[in-house]
Amino acid sequence: MLSYQHAYHAGGPADVHKHIVLAELLARLTEKPRGLSYVETHAGRGLYDLAAPEAAKTGEAAAGIARLAPDAGTPFGRALAAARAAGGASAYPGSPLVAKALLRPQDRLTLMELHPAEHAALKATLATDGTAIHRRDGFEGALALAPFAPRRGLVLVDPSYEVKSDYAAAAAFVRRLVARWPEATVLVWYPLLPAARHHALRAGLAPLAVAFDEAPFAVPPARGMTGSGLALVNAPHGSAAAFAAARRQTAGILAP
Ligand SMILES: C[S@@+](CC[C@H](N)C(=O)[O-])C[C@H]1O[C@@H](n2cnc3c(N)ncnc32)[C@H](O)[C@@H]1O
Repeated sequence: MLSYQHAYHAGGPADVHKHIVLAELLARLTEKPRGLSYVETHAGRGLYDLAAPEAAKTGEAAAGIARLAPDAGTPFGRALAAARAAGGASAYPGSPLVAKALLRPQDRLTLMELHPAEHAALKATLATDGTAIHRRDGFEGALALAPFAPRRGLVLVDPSYEVKSDYAAAAAFVRRLVARWPEATVLVWYPLLPAARHHALRAGLAPLAVAFDEAPFAVPPARGMTGSGLALVNAPHGSAAAFAAARRQTAGILAP
């Protein structure tokens, strides 16, 4: 199913939670000089315009990035400043651009996005810099290409959860991925919904070493998603500090 479009949700509280944790993890993983493979299974278009009709229609960014003034000295602040320098004051970086702002020449990005228009936009944003961008199913592609080189790696799994079975499918994918690529750290984003569908994801990840970071939104919406969750499999050294730093930075949009 490809009916989901991330432009309606860019810069919302869940997006900001995911992107700040991602930035904090990448900052720590790039402290060592050895190269890193960074992989995304569901990349989106990379760069969003919060003044676009899609973002204006939901107004989600008003409960997210619009409530924060990220410090330019933080990893996410650097990525946001880079996106705004390239796309103007209403620009917001998707996860590929957050990663791009923080990775180094010795690191390697591989991005998968299935939707034709999103894939084309992603290529237009990142194609000229050596990033590998595939139009293919993210789970199939990552499993086919794993293990990646360099073997140190971070994989972001960020599906749109359009059907109930997506939660168990995401967990099954992660189990297969780490069996094939044991050195990989995997960050999985998921929504907290009144129906608590994420319990299937948590149960599916239970056989693995996993840390969770879940938070309700500070401004609860009238209906739908009530909070944001992240699961970190094979958490690297410094992950607890990364989660704590992200919580400090998201204090205005996530409840404690
Ligand atoms: C939640 S969005 C990704 C947002 C992005 N990771 C970010 O944080 O900026 C999910 C994306 O997955 C894409 N998608 C849906 N099904 C897919 C599949 N089977 N494989 C790869 N991408 C898919 C959608 O088109 C959408 O762009």
